[in-house]
Amino acid sequence: MFFLMKAVILSGGFGTRMRPLTYTTPKPLLPLLNKPLIMHVIGSLPEEVNEVIIAANYKIELLRDYFEERDLDKEVKVVDEPDPRGTGGAVKNVEEYLEETFFVINSDIISSIDLEEYLEFYRKKKGVGAISAWTVEDPSEFGIMDIDEEGRIERFQEKPAPGEAFSDIINAGHYILEPEVLDKIEPDRKVSMEDEIFPRLLDQGLYGYEFEGYWIDCGRPSSLFKAHRTLLDVEGKKTLIGEGTSVETELGHHVSLGKDCALEEGCDVSNSIIFDGVMIGRNSTIENSILGYDVMVEEDVTISNSIISDQLYIERGKEIIDEKLKPEEMDHD
Ligand code: GTP
Repeated sequence: MFFLMKAVILSGGFGTRMRPLTYTTPKPLLPLLNKPLIMHVIGSLPEEVNEVIIAANYKIELLRDYFEERDLDKEVKVVDEPDPRGTGGAVKNVEEYLEETFFVINSDIISSIDLEEYLEFYRKKKGVGAISAWTVEDPSEFGIMDIDEEGRIERFQEKPAPGEAFSDIINAGHYILEPEVLDKIEPDRKVSMEDEIFPRLLDQGLYGYEFEGYWIDCGRPSSLFKAHRTLLDVEGKKTLIGEGTSVETELGHHVSLGKDCALEEGCDVSNSIIFDGVMIGRNSTIENSILGYDVMVEEDVTISNSIISDQLYIERGKEIIDEKLKPEEMDHD
């Protein structure tokens, strides 16, 4: 039987850990292999999902512009939240669109989960929801859960202290929920799904779906790098070069170049993410760095372990090591 479904993509966070990149671009639109993070998530949705509801707030106009200009095979609604309502409040805010079983997915998770298989797993259980589950070495930064042999979640624990974790299985941020769960979320206030709602669903049947492969929560620049390297490796590529980009040098490993960039002779670029419209002058070195949209780098510059915000101009001969350069308008911040 083929059901039509909706997916809510949580996209309203401020992305503070991803600054300075998120001063100008909301995290869901940050490019990963020349495609916004949120498009990786949308691309992984099963065919049954015919409508995507983007629960947004911070820099919503940029999300609206992005989706207005695109023709996807699924209907996309970008829905505004009066103020950031947290993961549970965000879903409550789009309640009017949710009548059947639905997905809720974080917009910044890059993983190998097969959502079709996850849905099949869930449909065989008789519960009110499911949470994707991923095994980590050190669970102390995460919400963990215990899952029994039938796949039923037995208990949760938030950010366990070292030595106190009862499990190494974490909440991987893809939920399948029944509409009745929405009745448990109080309206008009900030609610955390993980802290307030899921624990209250345990006795009604909440299931954990474990998967293998990779899972990266792109919350910080270091994890965006990890996702960039992982996806290039998965695709068997050393580099990715966007349309209209000219490269007059040999690229190092794990480099993605956006559209309409120009790299002059003798520059040395490795392990870096370069957004659209970036110019890199002769004999400049860029390593382990992210260069935002339309950054202009003159000749003989060295940029290492750094993030350069959109549209900044880097003078000839400059050395930028371990820095995060903010956009000019944020200089007072
Ligand atoms: P930090 O400020 O760095 O913690 O980032 P964040 O604000 O994105 O928070 P976090 O990484 O914990 O968010 C996980 C997911 O939930 C992301 O996809 C966020 O966009 C989303 N999210 C977080 N808070 C809200 C919210 O209040 N409303 C909505 N709609 N989405 C949210």
